[in-house]
Amino acid sequence: MNKMIDFSQGIIALAPLAGYTDLPFRNVVKKFGADLTFSEMISSNALQHNSKKTFKMLEKSSNETPYIVQITGSDLVAIRDAVEILNDIEGIDGIDLNCGCPVPKVVSQNSGSSLLLDLPHLSKIIETIKKHSNKQYTSAKVRLGYVDKIPEEIAKAVEGSGVDFMSVHGRTRAGAYKAPVDYEAIAKIKQSVNIPVLANGDITSYEKAMEVKKITGCDSLMIGRGAIGNPWIFYQLKYGESMVNDELKAKIILEHYDSMIEFYGSRGVSMFRKHLHVYSKGYEEASAFRNKINTMVIVEQVRDEIEDFFNIHH
Ligand SMILES: Cc1cc2nc3c(=O)[nH]c(=O)nc-3n(C[C@H](O)[C@H](O)[C@H](O)COP(=O)(O)O)c2cc1C
Repeated sequence: MNKMIDFSQGIIALAPLAGYTDLPFRNVVKKFGADLTFSEMISSNALQHNSKKTFKMLEKSSNETPYIVQITGSDLVAIRDAVEILNDIEGIDGIDLNCGCPVPKVVSQNSGSSLLLDLPHLSKIIETIKKHSNKQYTSAKVRLGYVDKIPEEIAKAVEGSGVDFMSVHGRTRAGAYKAPVDYEAIAKIKQSVNIPVLANGDITSYEKAMEVKKITGCDSLMIGRGAIGNPWIFYQLKYGESMVNDELKAKIILEHYDSMIEFYGSRGVSMFRKHLHVYSKGYEEASAFRNKINTMVIVEQVRDEIEDFFNIHH
């Protein structure tokens, strides 16, 4: 079967961001230029327990092909069970293993970034996913290490266990989200393997994306926080433009809102506030706008306010 992701020209992916990259956000970035999207991380234990909330988190947007679901976990039985549950869900094109999450709740269960402390076990997990999955892709998202940077070791272990591609956030667990991203270390990973590598970390503009490609040697990039309040970054990268006009921005913001309401119902109004706060940054009267929408609950009213504030003309 022909593989559906064409890495030969380089691709631009939206990173998984728990609490942000839900279906409505992914729908919007797909419409405006992202090539590949991932679900928020899904715990293999939660999948085993059939939680309704978890299944809602797994839903894919109709324009979202290819779509990769990211799982966390460490226990091989839980991982196998999770994969078997995902096998029954159509439209998922791959399973990605989270090997980077730094939060104590995940790390204390030997998942996320703590997998980088035991590479033989990490390999076993990937092999388990590959053995049981009926999806086209198996992949892993890693950091550079837990405390010490061990890019080559990680690269070899991940490639050796049979993934189709990998994503690298250029920090260690100890580096959290603040240490400078080590793009040279991502370059080392890229040089150590023959599979596609997606470079990730602090890509916040068109110019920065070009610089990261150059230093890492990676044709493919993954963008997380740089897309929050700024989803048009995918449009810029796709069409090679360093500027985006306000009209396009306004259109994207409104489509994002409509998509939230479609997916969450009127609950989407309050859930969209955090996005509106970022979208309105830098605009005149932004704080008055935020104060106003902070107390509004009626879908149409908020929609009108968004149209007004961002000057959307019909
Ligand atoms: C709020 C938040 C949630 C995140 N959730 C996930 C997640 O679910 N899975 C994952 O692999 N990484 C997650 N990450 C890490 C990002 O995918 C990414 O690797 C990291 O933020 C660095 O890239 P960036 O600078 O482009 O954001 C999260 C990061 C943040 C800030």
